[in-house]
This record gives sequence, C-alpha cells and structure tokens, in this order.
Amino acid sequence: METTENNNQEQHFTMPRIGDKAPEFKAITTQGEINFPSDYKGKWVILFSHPADFTPVCTSEFMTFAHLEQKFDNANCKLVGLSVDGLYSHIAWLRTIKDKIKFNGMENIEVKFPLIEDIIMNVAKKYGMIQSGEHKTQAVRAVFFIDPEGTVRALIYYPLSLGRNFDEIYRALIAMQTSDKFNVATPADWVPGKDVIISPAGSCGVAEERMSNTDELECEDWFFCTKPLDKDMVLKEIIKN
Ligand code: BEZ
Repeated sequence: METTENNNQEQHFTMPRIGDKAPEFKAITTQGEINFPSDYKGKWVILFSHPADFTPVCTSEFMTFAHLEQKFDNANCKLVGLSVDGLYSHIAWLRTIKDKIKFNGMENIEVKFPLIEDIIMNVAKKYGMIQSGEHKTQAVRAVFFIDPEGTVRALIYYPLSLGRNFDEIYRALIAMQTSDKFNVATPADWVPGKDVIISPAGSCGVAEERMSNTDELECEDWFFCTKPLDKDMVLKEIIKN
C-alpha cells in the first residue's frame, strides 16, 4: 500500500485512479465472504463506502440503493457497500432499516447486496476512503465504478454530510457502457435517446470530411460533431429485461 506523509506527520493513503486495476481484497460481508474483484469478473461493480451504520444520511442512501438494486442488476452491475463497522452492527442496522424506517415513500426495504465489515480499515485504506481532513475513522462517501475486467472506470467522492444522487450514479454507469459499446462519448447531461459525440478529428483531412458529411453527423464545428443514437438500440444492448 502506498502512503505519503505531510508536515504534520499525518498519513494519507493513496486512492486507485481511473484506469488502475481495482485493488484486490478478501472480506467478510452481510452476504458471506467475497474475493474482490475476482468474484465479479464479467460484471460491472459499484463499490461504495459510507461513514457509519445507524446514521441518517447513510440510512437514506442504503434504502435508495436497495430500492434500485434490480435496476442496476438489469444493467449487469452489482452493488457492494462498506463502512468501518463490524458485521453485527451491519446486521442490526439492516434489520432496523427493514423493520422500522420509512423514507421518500420507501418502507420495508431489504438490503440484499453485500455490506463489507471493515473494522480494521483494510479495504477503506486501499481505496482511499479514509480522508483524515474529513474524519479520522469514518469513510467518506466514495463510489468506485469497476468494469467487467476489474478496471476502475470512474470515482465519485462526497463529504460525510452530503447524500449522493443515485440517478446520476445510474446515468454514469449507462453512459460508460454506451461509450464502450458504441465507441462514442456522451455530452453533458446525456441520457439514452440524446445525441452522442464522436471523437474529435485527428487530422485536417478528417476535419474536412466531417464538415462535409451532413448525412449522419451534425457538426457545430470540425471538433464538435454529434450523431443520433437510437434509445431503443442503447437499451437493447445494455439493459437486460
Ligand atoms: C449520516 O449518515 O447521517 C452522517 C454520518 C456521518 C456524519 C454526518 C452524517
């Protein structure tokens, strides 16, 4: 594990970056032991951390993610949660959520995806989830998108006080899968059905060609060309019914 020291002798743990292989670990979870990422080969995984069990923002997030689990599964994506708490705390918290908590029209929510116990911060440190400027022992709200080959494709980090936007997490997943499948990029606020961006021209000849090809492409200028990508085609390739 790589570490650096600052002037106050405080330890900072590095985090995986986009394009890195997801650090490996074995962990106990509420769904049994997992070997990460090998157990998830061939699937996308969202590995996410939260500060602590029995806290309100985390509870609202877990209920929302559990509610959306099937939707993520239909996009070939598994969810794995983590906090620096023990297994029995996790079990008690998830039971309480199911039995007692109502939020945003949701109730009786059962969290079926694994929640990692990480009392010794083994995983949290490997993934840079402990950011000591925010809290010394509680994980920040990190989200790692890991692709079917075990490569980190995107990261989101939020502070303890800020609950995540799960529509955005889902949108980002579908956008990355669409980029992979159709070899395109996706513009701001893209959702399936909206035009996609083709990679910028890499030569004067291609730039010229792009500007004269009015059949398929719409070019604002030589470097900014879009094309339609049928929503049904995107959904058919990515979403399992
Ligand atoms: C929460 O989940 O409510 C929370 C956790 C840690 C700090 C602040 C809020």
